[in-house]
Amino acid sequence: MSNPITVRVGAAMSDSAPDLWGLFIEDLNDALDGGLNAELVRNGDFEFDPSERDDFHHLTAWATEGAVAVRTAFPLHPNNRHYASLTGPAAIANGGWHGIRARAGERLRLTLFARAAAPTRLAVALGAGLAGTELDVEPGGWRYLEADLTTVAAGCGELRIAVPAGADVDLDAISLRPLGDNGEPLIFRPDLLDALGALSPSFVRFPGGCLAHGYGLANIYHWKDTIGPRWRRAQTRNIWGYHQSRQIGYGEYFELCEAVGATAIPIVAAGVCCQNSPGGQHAIAESQMDEYLQDVLDLIEYANGGIETRWGAKRAEHGHPEPYGLRYLGVGNEDEITDDFRDRYARIEDAVRRAHPEITVIGTSGPCTTGPDFEAGWEYARERGVAMVDEHGYQSPRWLHQNLDRYAGYDPEGPKVYLGEYAGCSSTVRSALAEAAYMIGLERNPAVVRLASYAPLLARVGHSQWTPDLIYFTADEVRLSASYFVQRAFGSERGERVHAVELEGAEPWTRPVPESGEAHVCSPRATVAFSDVVVDGRPVSDKVTTPGSDGVGLGAIDPTAADIEFTAVRSEGGDGFSLRLGPDDPLSSVKFAFCMGGNRNSVVFRRDDGIDNWEATCPWPAWGDGVPVRVRVLLDGPCLRVWVDGELHHDLELDARPEHRVVAGALSRSSTDGTEYVVRLVNAEDTEKTVRVDLGDVLGAVEADVELLAGAGPDEGALFEASPVAPVREHAKGESGIDLVLPPWSFASAVIRPST
Ligand code: AHR
Repeated sequence: MSNPITVRVGAAMSDSAPDLWGLFIEDLNDALDGGLNAELVRNGDFEFDPSERDDFHHLTAWATEGAVAVRTAFPLHPNNRHYASLTGPAAIANGGWHGIRARAGERLRLTLFARAAAPTRLAVALGAGLAGTELDVEPGGWRYLEADLTTVAAGCGELRIAVPAGADVDLDAISLRPLGDNGEPLIFRPDLLDALGALSPSFVRFPGGCLAHGYGLANIYHWKDTIGPRWRRAQTRNIWGYHQSRQIGYGEYFELCEAVGATAIPIVAAGVCCQNSPGGQHAIAESQMDEYLQDVLDLIEYANGGIETRWGAKRAEHGHPEPYGLRYLGVGNEDEITDDFRDRYARIEDAVRRAHPEITVIGTSGPCTTGPDFEAGWEYARERGVAMVDEHGYQSPRWLHQNLDRYAGYDPEGPKVYLGEYAGCSSTVRSALAEAAYMIGLERNPAVVRLASYAPLLARVGHSQWTPDLIYFTADEVRLSASYFVQRAFGSERGERVHAVELEGAEPWTRPVPESGEAHVCSPRATVAFSDVVVDGRPVSDKVTTPGSDGVGLGAIDPTAADIEFTAVRSEGGDGFSLRLGPDDPLSSVKFAFCMGGNRNSVVFRRDDGIDNWEATCPWPAWGDGVPVRVRVLLDGPCLRVWVDGELHHDLELDARPEHRVVAGALSRSSTDGTEYVVRLVNAEDTEKTVRVDLGDVLGAVEADVELLAGAGPDEGALFEASPVAPVREHAKGESGIDLVLPPWSFASAVIRPST
């Protein structure tokens, strides 16, 4: 049934944040090697190492025939120590990422280094007759060799390099890249690059995330390790459990920014490594801090210095004499706000402020939208007068719809916000629409929110460590999520001014949590016995949950006031258990999870529409078999308190504020034909809405290009899949505004201009 809505677009309130929408890219989910990196050979440097992942070794992705050894005695470069030594007849063959795929007639450049004792001819073949060539190796030291191949057919196979009988040859830095239209090897995989470019980002934040501050001090990302010839770059373990070839290093990141028309936001570690490293956060040693500070200043010189400067000259040597025009620099990522952090951060920021007042330094405020590091990070930022703070928030659709006005409560005179990572917790239409609603809220607060980037950006199907992601891909397919289309709509149609908007006919709604009463315990990986169970003063018989079962009910509770106590003992298996208060999906419930997911922490989740939202966490050492814990959970209206062994662990108030499910925002911009309006509309309800967009002061005929994302139910759309719906374009005409029909679960972005 149609429900009439009026969107009254009022006066301009302020200028828009010009750089608001951008990208955050991190080597996570095989986003780079095996993804955006156009390289087709995997482990071409033989640097994969078992210390990075148990199943890695120096010949990962290579098949061998005959006498092949990995040696380090006389390396190509100290950063590239391992190479393959073949005694002919022998061969090595690389399967890339599940086979090297090529199109018919595709031109590819093979490059490698070879060393032979006597003149030797190498036989190179791609797949079963897709392409081939021969390479002559002159005797002596390492020789650089290259050859261009053209495939005779489309296919998928291995790159095989064979050494003739009697020959001894060392091989390293083996690369195969498609050639671009200019005849040069591609840096970036074109279909992924196109998908990024279509988002019209204003900036790209790189190289992480957790990757930037690293897993232990030795794993901190140092930009100087990642520039210059690829075969000289320092490769290392990836914090996400694989290998970083660094083939997309700082130079390539700057190139990426240029390719998509964005400004760069490099993130350097704040002189500390990730607090989730073994032994926790560590600070760069005092004796190395001066060098580290200089590295940060050198980075700015590499980006912006003239070619007469040392690092500007390096940039020119790397093929880019013109400065990159760096304006922002991020220092730190989700760091624990400790004294070490404060000390190192302050020195880095002071050094940059002194030498480069033109650079906006972005600080950090922990991993969440609340919590101790969030509070401490902001307090510190305010104390220091940090220009901008990077906030992160992965939140459920329910949370996003409740928090559209989050930034209206921030001090516009205080540090600005870069929402560096956010996402609506699934790849469904429901999440995409909630993100759109939230983004309207971001757009509405330009005095506070200056930058925002969805995260994570890219995930190779079958190789992911973090979901949801904006863009999924396989070797030959790019699968765009519904969230992608939302991001694209915001990025590609911007405004110069933000307008007041009044929404008539749309009612926000509230829901109780839990929605009905029942207590339920479950343990996916362990056998856990629950004894001395008391629910609202009633003793309940002992219960046992077993791995893989659906768990067991503890009985009915009053959803507005419940008191549950029990003693839990794990007899076997891993991790802990959860206690759910409320009904099963999709109705809303609250869950207390004890030592789940890695046998650490106790966490309170709230679950709405089948999507968990993290509400609070409390550290807990690993739970041992046979160790009893006494748990009490008290629900009192919106207040939830949890005690473990008599100690208060959680004391929180569940958010009962209304959810704004129908949301509108408006911007305007000047064009040669007069003022254009960009109006965004979200309908995250299951009824169609007829909408009048009333432009008030605008008199006369207008027309509009409307992009509409609609046609799928809220729970359609899945991880690793393409969106079930893609936007369609419509044209509308009207007088002083337009009339639209918003289907259930839809998002529209309309550009309205005077009729010509
Ligand atoms: O986006 C994935 C990860 O989430 C980032 O590396 C980190 O900053 C956050 O915890």
